[in-house]
Amino acid sequence: MNPLDDVAFGPPTAAMTRPLLAVARRIFTDTFSHRYDPDAFGQFCDQAYAVDGPMARDLGDPDVDWQVAAVDAKPIGYAKLTPLRAPAQTARPGSLELQQIYVESAWHGTGVAERLMQWAVERAMQRGAPQLYLTVFDHNQRAKRFYARHGFQEVGRCTFTLGERVDDDRIWCRELVA
Ligand SMILES: CC(C)(COP(=O)(O)OP(=O)(O)OC[C@H]1O[C@@H](n2cnc3c(N)ncnc32)[C@H](O)[C@@H]1OP(=O)(O)O)[C@@H](O)C(=O)NCCC(=O)NCCS
Repeated sequence: MNPLDDVAFGPPTAAMTRPLLAVARRIFTDTFSHRYDPDAFGQFCDQAYAVDGPMARDLGDPDVDWQVAAVDAKPIGYAKLTPLRAPAQTARPGSLELQQIYVESAWHGTGVAERLMQWAVERAMQRGAPQLYLTVFDHNQRAKRFYARHGFQEVGRCTFTLGERVDDDRIWCRELVA
């Protein structure tokens, strides 16, 4: 049996707000917490994943598109498409950003991320975006390999600040052809 048979994909319901904030925090923590001072990391998450924080605001923003992967109505991952926020120097007008694609580790390698990426590309093309951008931590080898497989390539650099620490992020881009 295909594990994807149990996964429903669609936009988030209002009832999913809190579970989505929780799953986002868990995936972010699983992926990155080992790199940071625990107190600074906890403070960052308290703010980023608060019910009135930036992620919650994006859930109510009509310019932000979401796709959630859920099992029995419980989110196990999501992708989020925003207007371009990364400092990409040569972006064409109307380009969009895949700001997050987050999947619970138990579902890595199952095709859930694949489906979320497929949605992001199709949705960005529907919105008329000429390019799709994203940022990725330079040491996130798994994500970089996944993005490369989906036609993205590095086009620039930026930084990500958490507490006192400033990390090296990379800007990647995929051209979208209708
Ligand atoms: C990034 C993410 C969405 C990718 O989804 P996934 O289901 O894990 O992706 P896949 O298994 O299809 O592909 C992963 C690729 O990395 C490779 N890989 C796995 N572990 C790796 C490692 N430690 N180092 C390098 N490559 C690795 C896999 O072989 C595969 O590459 P291939 O298809 O060329 O062989 C998912 O891992 C995730 O949500 N991670 C946590 C959150 C995150 O980092 N999000 C991205 C932030 S920029």
